[in-house]
Amino acid sequence: MTDHAKQLEQRFAKTDATVAVLGLGYVGLPLAKLFHNAGFNVIGLDVDSRKTDMLQRGESYIEYLGEDYVKDLADSDRFTPSTDFDLLESADAIVICVPSPLGEHNDPDLSYVEATCEEIAPRLRPGVLVVLESTTYPGTTREVVLPRLEARGLTCGRDFFLAFSPEREDPANPTFTTHNTPKLIGGIDDTSGRVGAALYEQTLEKVVRVSTSEVAEAAKLLENIYRAVNIAMVNEMKVLLTEMDIDVWEVIQAASTKPFGFHAFYPGPGIGGHCIPVDPFYLTWKAKEVGFPTRFIELAGEVNNQMPGFVIRRLTEALSEDAKAVRDSNILVIGLAYKPEVSDVRESPALTIIEKLQSLGANVSYHDPHVPKTHKMRKHDLGMTSTELTPDALAAADAALIITPHAAIDLALIGEHAKLVVDTRNAMAKLGPVKARVVSA
Ligand SMILES: NC(=O)c1ccc[n+]([C@@H]2O[C@H](COP(=O)([O-])OP(=O)(O)OC[C@H]3O[C@@H](n4cnc5c(N)ncnc54)[C@H](O)[C@@H]3O)[C@@H](O)[C@H]2O)c1
Repeated sequence: MTDHAKQLEQRFAKTDATVAVLGLGYVGLPLAKLFHNAGFNVIGLDVDSRKTDMLQRGESYIEYLGEDYVKDLADSDRFTPSTDFDLLESADAIVICVPSPLGEHNDPDLSYVEATCEEIAPRLRPGVLVVLESTTYPGTTREVVLPRLEARGLTCGRDFFLAFSPEREDPANPTFTTHNTPKLIGGIDDTSGRVGAALYEQTLEKVVRVSTSEVAEAAKLLENIYRAVNIAMVNEMKVLLTEMDIDVWEVIQAASTKPFGFHAFYPGPGIGGHCIPVDPFYLTWKAKEVGFPTRFIELAGEVNNQMPGFVIRRLTEALSEDAKAVRDSNILVIGLAYKPEVSDVRESPALTIIEKLQSLGANVSYHDPHVPKTHKMRKHDLGMTSTELTPDALAAADAALIITPHAAIDLALIGEHAKLVVDTRNAMAKLGPVKARVVSA
């Protein structure tokens, strides 16, 4: 252990240190709050001044966290939200939580991670811990971050410390929050792993140290590939069983009575969010380096990406039974976010489905209590505003298409006033018989 490492460990143990969190989004903001609540001085840095301004005013921009979530941060003299990267000079620990999306051709886009390294490197001083939390392929911390941070002559493991610790945030999960979800951490070297664990141990219920940053990076991808593959498998079952006129939901319920060896996954209109549709392809890209075909990942992506098409086919068939074509039909999409209780629409299959329906000539509106209007995104620009869910709006629609049934959505009202409900989530089943014709998709 170097002197720097010993001193950092001691200071973390007393929470007598300054932690800078870079990127104050879904991952960075809860983390900044945790470090603050543990007693650290926290600098919250983001390139988006709208966010840092709102934090200064005590206003939250992440709806599911609640309005009051950042009030204590705004009132505290231990929290500094800012766009001024010079503040990094006073940090003892720097935690990177910036986006890691896919580029145009499904390749990793590490430009945000690289940009933060360029901000950190000239301000890095001896005795600082840097942790990457952004999801990425195995090797990123060592191959992309390390050389940039060492470029000015400091040596990792001696002068500064570098680790990877994947974020396992599950927005709106009432049981597992950042605080009580076990946290993996792996260092570039043993000392870095140890110093990194010392930081998180002050803040989180359980920290699990692994031998290298590569193990931590790969573990995160395994977790998300496991989900992507299992969801694809059950989505394929849904398409097949629908063809065979067997209720996939009842089949899953039946299989779930087995007390061992079966874990239920549920089908849907496609996968969404910043993780499951994106992260597996980070590994696919890296695997090419060793000439290894990641067939499970590719197949899962293919099956999951076909689900919006399946939903549209089911909707088209259901409309046909009412002697209606998709062209000129009025379709009311219920739920735009990628999962219940969040306002996040990133990669949401609802966006693809709406665009496809529009291209087929349908008049599409949507209702989502968490998404009052749509914003321009890299791949989508719908320019739509949420419609109020009223008996008239439902009666005027040729079909209500359920994509994301948030708890606040009045399903009984839909069942009472819609003519046709196309349900991708089996949401209507819990109501029992309703007036509307319900078709599963
Ligand atoms: N959202 C989740 O549920 C989740 C879960 C697990 C892992 N992750 C991973 O965590 C990382 C962050 O995801 P997120 O959902 O919080 O993204 P986000 O888009 O909500 O937040 C990222 C923030 O980083 C800021 N930013 C961009 N460039 C920056 C820079 N150079 N310096 C400082 N800030 C910068 C953005 O303005 C934004 O506020 C990603 O790698 C993601 O894959 C996300």
